[in-house]
Amino acid sequence: MTLGRPRLHLRATPSTNDRARALALAGAPHGTLVTTGLQTAGRGRQGRVWTTPPDRALLMSLVVRDADALLSLRAGLAVADLAGAGAVVKWPNDVLVEGRKVAGVLVEGRPQEGWAIVGMGINVALSPADLPVETAGTLGRPPSELEAALGELLEFLASWLSAPSADVLAALRERDALLGREVRWAGGSGVGAGIDDAGRLRVRAGGRELVLEAGEVHLARTSTAAG
Ligand code: BTN
Repeated sequence: MTLGRPRLHLRATPSTNDRARALALAGAPHGTLVTTGLQTAGRGRQGRVWTTPPDRALLMSLVVRDADALLSLRAGLAVADLAGAGAVVKWPNDVLVEGRKVAGVLVEGRPQEGWAIVGMGINVALSPADLPVETAGTLGRPPSELEAALGELLEFLASWLSAPSADVLAALRERDALLGREVRWAGGSGVGAGIDDAGRLRVRAGGRELVLEAGEVHLARTSTAAG
């Protein structure tokens, strides 16, 4: 089914994820899209806020039915494709260009009830002065290209949502920002050792190999690296 139909575009809204969740609970079909030019209570992962200036970022949430366990990785790959050949993915789905985070993905839902929301905030047309933190980046496209960028993104998303798991894992391994890099997470620190066949992050720490299933992983600081 075509992604982005039906589509609800709001001039401003607290959070597209909240609006899409309400639509999903009311029975909205796979591919239903909510977009806005401005969020007044945008949410990031780990309870963080997500703010962008009006009409400069792609702010969108997609209703997905019957998602698999790799959904959040599929979403990150679609954003990476939009960001270009040089974009890398900081597991699970932060997209970095030249070490700066240009987009965030927030997947929420109730898989047991057959729905998920893929929320994305992509800094398509922010100017460097608009960037909220030093580790943020922008795709540097003109604001007039926001709608075109949405069309491109939906095509990439459609392709990754239907791709075999093996292709998803192979693409993620190609774009793995953490491979061989020092990382830290809530429970410790180590070195990124790739992505396993379930899409989990492998890390080497103290002579052992661990797998991280979820949560936040931070790159050790360099002058431009996103945390
Ligand atoms: C992150 O913390 O990296 C994820 C950020 C996700 C932000 C997007 S913007 C559209 C959608 N609506 C929200 O409230 N959050 C997501």
